[in-house]
Amino acid sequence: MTAYVMKGVSLLGAAPRDLVVRDGRIADEPPGAGAEVIDAAGLVALPGLVDLHTHLREPGREDAETVETGSRAAAAGGYTAVCAMANTSPVADTAGVVEQVWRLGREAGLVDVQPIGAVTVGLAGRQLAELGAMATSAAQVRIFSDDGHCVADPRLMRRALEYVKAFDGVIAQHAEEPRLTEGAQMHEGEVSTRLGLTGWPAVAEEAIIARDVLLAEHVGSRLHVCHVSTAGSVEVLRQAKARGVRVTAEVTPHHLLLTDELATSYDPVYKVNPPLRTASDVRALRQALIDGVIDVVATDHAPHAVEDKECEWAYARPGMVGLETALPVVLSVLGEQWELIAERMSRAPARIAGLAGHGGDLAAAGSPATLTLVDPAARRTVDPSDLVSRSRNTPYAGTTLPGRIVATFLRGEPTVLDGKVVR
Ligand code: DOR
Ligand code: ZN
Repeated sequence: MTAYVMKGVSLLGAAPRDLVVRDGRIADEPPGAGAEVIDAAGLVALPGLVDLHTHLREPGREDAETVETGSRAAAAGGYTAVCAMANTSPVADTAGVVEQVWRLGREAGLVDVQPIGAVTVGLAGRQLAELGAMATSAAQVRIFSDDGHCVADPRLMRRALEYVKAFDGVIAQHAEEPRLTEGAQMHEGEVSTRLGLTGWPAVAEEAIIARDVLLAEHVGSRLHVCHVSTAGSVEVLRQAKARGVRVTAEVTPHHLLLTDELATSYDPVYKVNPPLRTASDVRALRQALIDGVIDVVATDHAPHAVEDKECEWAYARPGMVGLETALPVVLSVLGEQWELIAERMSRAPARIAGLAGHGGDLAAAGSPATLTLVDPAARRTVDPSDLVSRSRNTPYAGTTLPGRIVATFLRGEPTVLDGKVVR
């Protein structure tokens, strides 16, 4: 195994030093003679990013993304682990499917792919999936989610929370009261009224989060809230956390940057679920991320084939790709707050997913060399044709964002060097 010395690197913004990687770990001895030198002057090292919410589309929609192409996009974005959502075809609701995704991730070998299992059979919201069999499978599933759909039935949600308590699992909820969002096309507000499009009201999210934190409190189980998008949701979470409810929450990069005004273009690239909200929601989400009411930035990377996205707004699938632009977007929103970025994009998601070996302390000799090197001074104008992902549905085409991922290492092996995926 090649040893590396990263010369003049800054760990999370600290004074430059040399970082030695040997046998897959951070070493405190000098590099041996055979070590490869990486000129890391001006680069910042972060623990490898961890995504709690990635749609990899395999099995079933390999034309949009595969475990391999999604793994490449993740590595290019500085990620070393991704949690693969269950809304594939067939749905990841059995030990067989989660093991298949896990095995494909191992074969690609670029990031650790941790499958998420469905909560209900076929995501249909009627009957619990075989949560125990998925937990004890080779994939060792710990997060369950019907993402794309809400577990709307409160009795099923309660049963799911009870079930996973035995192995300290977590239910990740896509919070959307379906009766309040029938026919919805975008955020319900001033812009939807102007455009004459059916609205997705903030309360459809907030009502489910309020219900679920009460259920999680009642059961004593762990709840994770996917893609929080409204100021009101932040207030519900703030109160629940103050009471000691075991709830964590994520926000996407797009909900931290973009607003519902973009829908006035009728460009379906901006169609996403939950929808883009207002500028005051964006402000509340940013503050919640800083305060820790929101624990994690998760991409909700949602690749879609051209024919599913480049059509009329009403027929377009919701979702945007996000793995390759997440860190630049967060840098543009938070600035170079490296400690905070490491916590929200690596350590906290690694803890929630139970991914030992990710989100480690790069200053500690013996830690896994699972890290990403970022050039914060570089700026990049997003060109969809440059994306590593198999899909091109980025809302940032033509936008100039700060920061470039120069290298990614997974347990001492480079997956990205000079900004290029190595395998
Ligand atoms: O915009 C979204 N796209 N939201 C979801 O909940 C699902 C996702 C997808 O699978 O495309
Ligand atoms: Zn979702």
